[in-house]
Amino acid sequence: MKNYKLAVLKGDGIGPEIVDQAIQVLNKTAQAYGFSVSYDYALLGGAAIDATGVPLPQETIDACKAADSVLLGAVGGPKWDSQPGNNRPEKGLLGIRKALGLYANLRPAVIFAPLRDASPLKPEIIGDSLDIMVVRELTGGIYFGDRGTEEQNGIKSAYDTERYSVPEVERIARVAFDMAMKRDKRLCSVDKANVLDSSRLWRSVVDEMAKEYPEVTVSHLYVDNTAMQLVRNPGQFDVIVTSNMFGDILSDEASMISGSIGMLASASLGEGGLGLYEPIHGSAPDIAGQDAANPLATILSVAMLLRYSLNEPAAAQAIEDAVAKALTQARTRDIYTESCGAKLVGCREMGDIVSGLIH
Ligand code: IPM
Ligand code: MG
Repeated sequence: MKNYKLAVLKGDGIGPEIVDQAIQVLNKTAQAYGFSVSYDYALLGGAAIDATGVPLPQETIDACKAADSVLLGAVGGPKWDSQPGNNRPEKGLLGIRKALGLYANLRPAVIFAPLRDASPLKPEIIGDSLDIMVVRELTGGIYFGDRGTEEQNGIKSAYDTERYSVPEVERIARVAFDMAMKRDKRLCSVDKANVLDSSRLWRSVVDEMAKEYPEVTVSHLYVDNTAMQLVRNPGQFDVIVTSNMFGDILSDEASMISGSIGMLASASLGEGGLGLYEPIHGSAPDIAGQDAANPLATILSVAMLLRYSLNEPAAAQAIEDAVAKALTQARTRDIYTESCGAKLVGCREMGDIVSGLIH
């Protein structure tokens, strides 16, 4: 029987609760689909600061590198707000992305049919469906560029630098073109080429690569216009490819349009099969430990993990189907409404229900 090794980083806040449910579902799926999974738990973020003083201990990097794939809950919380900038929980997240070379961040924004009315947009704007894939560059740009804080003549200033090389843009554009080919063959590259040199380079690389993908319809939009178009006519988008910073912002916007931020999974991929999978939402410290969190985004992250890193598409599909079915029976409070016809449940019960629906 095939055995997969997963590194598991539960993180902070609701991280441990939602990851526990995802693992329960994965174990059930493994049983049904004839493979086994072993888990190597490691610390990241605030939990790692508490235990070791730093948000990303070397053992965590080693555990991830030794694994077939990585499952992450969420990091951060007010408890660590007083940490210096270079030792915050978020630094652990940025560090693990960089250490594992996870340059491609896939953030799907989809509307789950039973949750249509949860979108803040009017039904006529959403149209029949919403299915956007944001492909965000994850290990370059202003997040990792030259930075500093200086003081001259008594005046303090700070700077961060956006820099992209041609190979960096090429590899993320390649991921996006390949993704578009598997979907509706429409790719929108987002930049700020009316102002930034780095964006003009980005655009020229995307145009060059477009010649290799004649079937893909390529468009370019400025980031400010994209922010507007996402709420004006989201259906125009299939795959969006953009830089680290713009992707951070636009992926939050796109996920909110779906009304299901507690439902959305994400994958961060590098060279080779290694990937890191995590829900798009954060650590929600305000509801941590109350058995109130929605575990579905983490459960769906496991489905992405099975599909993209372990090449177990049938098992991935089984989880996605189970989640769709579970939604008609039960909801956690973030997606519950009186009229939804489903029962209000906590995090554990939601996990149990999905697990029970895996065959
Ligand atoms: C995200 C988050 C992170 C980011 C933070 C927590 C560093 O917002 O994954 O989108 O900016 O990348
Ligand atoms: Mg973000």
